[in-house]
Amino acid sequence: MSLIPCRSNYKWSTCYRYFLLMVFLLLLFRIFMYSENFRSVFSGSFLLSRNEVHVIREKDEEVILPPKDCDLFTGKWVFDNATHPLYKEEECGFLSRQVTCLRNGRRDSLYQNWRWQPRDCSLPRFKAKLLLEKLRGKRLMFVGDSLNRNQWESMVCLLQSGVPLAKKRLSDSSSESVFRIEDYNTTVEFYWAPFLVESNADDPSKHSILDRVIMPESINKHGDNWKGADYLVFNTYIWWMNSANMKVLKQGGTFDEGATEYDEIERTAAFGRVLRTWAKWIEENVDPNLTSVYFISMSPMHFRSLDWNNPDGIKCSKETAPVLNMTTPVNVGTDHRLLVVEANVTRSMKVPVYLLNITTLSEYRKDAHTSIYTTRQGQLLTEEQQADPKIYADCIHWCLPGLPDTWNEFLYTHIISHT
Ligand SMILES: *[C@@H]1O[C@H](CO)[C@@H](O)[C@H](O)[C@H]1NC(C)=O
Ligand SMILES: *[C@@H]1O[C@H](CO)[C@@H](O)[C@H](O)[C@H]1NC(C)=O
Ligand SMILES: *[C@@H]1O[C@H](CO)[C@@H](O)[C@H](O)[C@H]1NC(C)=O
Ligand SMILES: *[C@@H]1O[C@H](CO)[C@@H](O)[C@H](O)[C@H]1NC(C)=O
Ligand SMILES: *[C@@H]1O[C@H](CO)[C@@H](O)[C@H](O)[C@H]1NC(C)=O
Ligand SMILES: *[C@@H]1O[C@H](CO)[C@@H](O)[C@H](O)[C@H]1NC(C)=O
Repeated sequence: MSLIPCRSNYKWSTCYRYFLLMVFLLLLFRIFMYSENFRSVFSGSFLLSRNEVHVIREKDEEVILPPKDCDLFTGKWVFDNATHPLYKEEECGFLSRQVTCLRNGRRDSLYQNWRWQPRDCSLPRFKAKLLLEKLRGKRLMFVGDSLNRNQWESMVCLLQSGVPLAKKRLSDSSSESVFRIEDYNTTVEFYWAPFLVESNADDPSKHSILDRVIMPESINKHGDNWKGADYLVFNTYIWWMNSANMKVLKQGGTFDEGATEYDEIERTAAFGRVLRTWAKWIEENVDPNLTSVYFISMSPMHFRSLDWNNPDGIKCSKETAPVLNMTTPVNVGTDHRLLVVEANVTRSMKVPVYLLNITTLSEYRKDAHTSIYTTRQGQLLTEEQQADPKIYADCIHWCLPGLPDTWNEFLYTHIISHT
């Protein structure tokens, strides 16, 4: 017997009744799926549990989690000034002068209004309180270079937007910045280790060194400071891009002044050595039952406006909108081979590492850099410097609020879904 009763030998009314039944069943299904109240009537005995339909209730609002297998990193940017930015620049007193682009004179602000829309699902609405509950009594630590500091600043603002009046403080020591929210006993920390492993550029204030030399197998000096964190978020990229080869300290060498002897090793080979050292440290020191580990992929730069077909551009300085034509990827010179290494190393680890593949989606955001609305060696650019974007525009770091908030939305999604 066919499942479709609407054939010529059936009476019209049979067919019509069948149709009504199907509509009714569909409606019922929708009510079951989307109405928490309706489901609670049935005390959940035979229905899906809240967890399985990926819904978290926060006060009277639902936060809908994406399916676990959804690829969050494939999608597009949509203009959405109703939900973004997630906080206001002037309302976050913890932002450094380096990233407060509006305060520093930028006139267009649309760069704050773009929301990342994954192709096959949606990111959950950002609720600072929900994240704070997850982080109660916990330490969230970012480890890496200045781009990770950028993301750490974003996280500080995202969290503080949920408790504007709570007791909070920011303290800086040499390698570490710590943001503490007393009411939640939560700390959000940034630890400076631009290559993850030891290098002669590990001094956070004196790293403008001509020959940056790394020790690819040496990590404990930094790693000792990462122990006991509940969430560890790593990155390393920008300093790998200064030259095609990395300078690697010779066996038995030291960083004594003038005596540093090094070999030059091809970038991806050196990067692989560093990541394997890092992976070994994670496996020997991290209990996956207690600590979640994340790795942020490369943050792209936008130095050549011809990369996005703007012959009148000067680096990223005249850009006010993302690349929206996504038919072909934008090639802005990112070394995607490093992402292959990151994926390869993290995939084969016993401790699960969540690789946040933010590279491609960030490559579209030529509009989001601090450009000339930033500082240089701690000083705001002068008017003369601002008038010379060819030299002074920073097309590496990002304004806040802005793109790094989206990177943190991925972290948020994972933290509220999995821990
Ligand atoms: C990263 O995401 C992009 C799409 O945004 C995708 O094309 C690429 O294959 C992904 N890479 C990895 C290693 O997952
Ligand atoms: C949002 O953008 C729309 C369209 O550009 C504009 O009409 C509206 O005033 C904006 N709303 C806010 C709150 O900025
Ligand atoms: C605060 O959190 C730390 C871990 O970050 C924990 O060791 C300590 O016991 C907590 N203190 C209170 C009062 O809950
Ligand atoms: C983690 O927890 C699971 C289940 O509770 C347990 O079987 C496993 O031994 C734990 N792993 C470690 C490294 O403690
Ligand atoms: C998008 O870019 C592709 C390749 O660069 C080009 O062929 C196409 O015409 C562009 N589409 C639009 C709408 O600009
Ligand atoms: C991936 O990792 C394995 C084992 O560590 C190694 O043998 C292989 O060469 C790596 N492949 C790439 C493309 O890095």
